[in-house]
Amino acid sequence: MCGIVGYNGNKKAVDILLDGLSKLEYRGYDSAGVAIRDKEIEVFKSKGKLTNLKDKLKDKVLNGTCGIGHTRWATHGEPNETNAHPHVSNDGNVTLVHNGIIENYQELIQKLERHDYKLYSETDTEVLTNLIDYYYKKYKMGPIDAINRTMVRVRGSYAIAVMFRDYPDEIWVARKDSPMIIGQDKDGTYLASDVPAILKYTKNVYYIDNMEAACLKKDKVTFYDLNGDEVTKELKEIKWDVSAAEKEGYEHFMIKEINEQPEVVKKTINSLVNDNKIDLSKTGITEDEIKKIKEIYIVACGSAYHVGVCASYIFEDLARIPTRVDIASEFRYRKPILNKNTLVIIISQSGETADSLAALREAKNMGVKTLAIVNVVGSSIAREADYILYTLAGPEIAVATTKAFSTQLVASYALAIEFAKVKKKLNNKSYQELITEIKELPNKIDSILKNLTTEIQKISSKFSGIKDAFYIGRGLDYAISLEGSLKLKEVSYIHSEAYASGELKHGTISLIEDNTLVIGIATQEEIFEKTISNLVEVKSRGAYVIVITNEGKDVSKVANDTIYVPNTNKYFFPSLSVVPLQLIGYYITVAKGLDVDKPRNLAKSVTVE
Ligand code: AGP
Repeated sequence: MCGIVGYNGNKKAVDILLDGLSKLEYRGYDSAGVAIRDKEIEVFKSKGKLTNLKDKLKDKVLNGTCGIGHTRWATHGEPNETNAHPHVSNDGNVTLVHNGIIENYQELIQKLERHDYKLYSETDTEVLTNLIDYYYKKYKMGPIDAINRTMVRVRGSYAIAVMFRDYPDEIWVARKDSPMIIGQDKDGTYLASDVPAILKYTKNVYYIDNMEAACLKKDKVTFYDLNGDEVTKELKEIKWDVSAAEKEGYEHFMIKEINEQPEVVKKTINSLVNDNKIDLSKTGITEDEIKKIKEIYIVACGSAYHVGVCASYIFEDLARIPTRVDIASEFRYRKPILNKNTLVIIISQSGETADSLAALREAKNMGVKTLAIVNVVGSSIAREADYILYTLAGPEIAVATTKAFSTQLVASYALAIEFAKVKKKLNNKSYQELITEIKELPNKIDSILKNLTTEIQKISSKFSGIKDAFYIGRGLDYAISLEGSLKLKEVSYIHSEAYASGELKHGTISLIEDNTLVIGIATQEEIFEKTISNLVEVKSRGAYVIVITNEGKDVSKVANDTIYVPNTNKYFFPSLSVVPLQLIGYYITVAKGLDVDKPRNLAKSVTVE
């Protein structure tokens, strides 16, 4: 899950490449490199974060106006300078950067070695570079022929940018499954793995499809299909503004994005509520299709999966539709039992997560309708789903998702409410009450941020030294505790588990000892007392208990610290209790002095299996 960028124009390429890579570092940051073409192609690479490469280049005079760049998340070969991109073919004819994985690279190594190619790195990408060179020299039909023959020959996922020694004014690109957008403005043409890398220069982009290639000249982009025939593309305008991809005075993107939640949740709700009715017309799903749905299968990864767990409780309780939730990497290989009245819902911020994309294709191959809840416009999952519900979180830079998560939650509420109404499980009075309540959520999230952030920071900074933590709850509180636990784990590196609180006494409670941190979420009226009695059980074994509950509740007998969220409808409490959970994860990590936005071993969008 690397980030690639490229520029061909009339400005100095090095500045645009380094700036673009800095906006893509959330995709991978264990090594980086650029190739700049002036009179000839010069390659510079470094291990570690982009700052190391910037230091390496700061005294170099690089006037070239054409170049490609890469920031890496190692899959094949350890993070070091040799394995960093760009890779160069044996005789320097081909220079290439790649995001993705070539699955059959071992077999291709033997082919290349039979033709006297020598490989200097452990990467699948160097194999790809030399394979393009091999076809280029064998068939002498130029770049498009060499690239297309390579696309036919390799298996896996890739977005590549290539410079050929013999074609000084051109950058060639191709993709299959890994994301890429191509931009254009008066100063040149651009390519990148994601929008934030080029938003500063242009909002006009082309979307290149799977198994397509393109040639980027200074003033023109030409697209080709696998037969080498030209393909026309429409230039589309991106609606996001540059500031969305900047920190705007916040110390980290994560805390900035946590504070953007009231605004983006409001935007997402307003895009789904029209004249006090839920309006799903933009998604493409009709009332007739909703009526046919007999079962829902929600499939996603990581935090998006946790949205699915929350949504499953609401689809079943409110719309009375049997709903299963599955982790995409399991779904795609479990031969799921789906029938024509099943709706498969795929949830993904990036719209590029490989397992979720494969799950979508699996469902489509089984002839089942798919609805995707996605944040990135034009992403693969968005383009391939039957119905698409866009969340309006804007670009999310921090690896740990927060604002996109909250917009996915309200999107799933809107779906469940409308499905319940269409299936006559909801009378108009309750329908209106739910819509009134959902529209209140942005203000309630805002009041939590305004009134509780400092308090939560104080509580959290007590736990920078802990090794373990437990999150417990029942029903929707259990569902959101899963997200609370992941938010802490992924940025603070503290081991934490989330449990249905009734399950603790079946084993895990043996781990509770003096001062073990237990965060209990108790907002669900019907099962409130049950959750409190489970908290009493851990308290009596010495746990330090933080309770997140709704105003008016008395949890003094169990809580060492209490965080009160405003009242709302029972289905919507995850949108409120997740905010303190995000802040706890953030402030414990800040107290540990860790890199909040770029946690080790992680990347924002997991585009490989
Ligand atoms: C969450 O903070 C993580 N970044 C990760 O679990 C993420 O939710 C998962 O990789 C799914 O990503 P997606 O929503 O882009 O598909």
